[in-house]
Amino acid sequence: MLGLKLPTDPRWVNIVEKNIEEILTDHAFCEQKATSTAISLIVSFPEYTELVQEMTALVKEEMSHFKMVHDKIIERGWVLGRDRRDDYVIQLVRFFPKGGSRTTQLVHRLLYAALIEARSCERFRLLSEALQDKELATFYRNLMVSEANHYTMFLGFARKYGNKKEVDAKWQQLLEYEAEIMSNLGNTEAIHG
Ligand SMILES: [Fe+2]
Ligand SMILES: [Fe+2]
Repeated sequence: MLGLKLPTDPRWVNIVEKNIEEILTDHAFCEQKATSTAISLIVSFPEYTELVQEMTALVKEEMSHFKMVHDKIIERGWVLGRDRRDDYVIQLVRFFPKGGSRTTQLVHRLLYAALIEARSCERFRLLSEALQDKELATFYRNLMVSEANHYTMFLGFARKYGNKKEVDAKWQQLLEYEAEIMSNLGNTEAIHG
């Protein structure tokens, strides 16, 4: 349903499980970055009224996810650490050439956002199915549903604002490229690591 070309190696969960503090720290900042992306889309594309409305709602939702993760960190007696570098996202956003019309730039940003949501959703599903810590598994199950909805929303906006045929072709190319990036990942305790 997510269209991803390369599933995560299930052994990634074993790595994560050994360092829950690290995954929660990385995850908290993923939620913060999702909030920042939504704000940035509002600032860059204010004339897209429906997008602005949805991004306003998304800012609240992603920030509430941040709080949920932060609460988990506090419950376990930890303090939120510094932001982690997300090499996956850094590599992903190099795919489309810079420039082009405003619509093209918007479409590219929406496709990146859709893919990051899709991969997060896939990772959360794995955690929800395989974590020994059942409380955390349920936590990830609920978040998985939210991120699946975000994936659908971002891809829907890309198809609505861009030329549907072109958008679908770009989406397929981006999925292929993402699979290449993922083939070198799956070995650290990071949401996209
Ligand atoms: Fe989220
Ligand atoms: Fe999200």
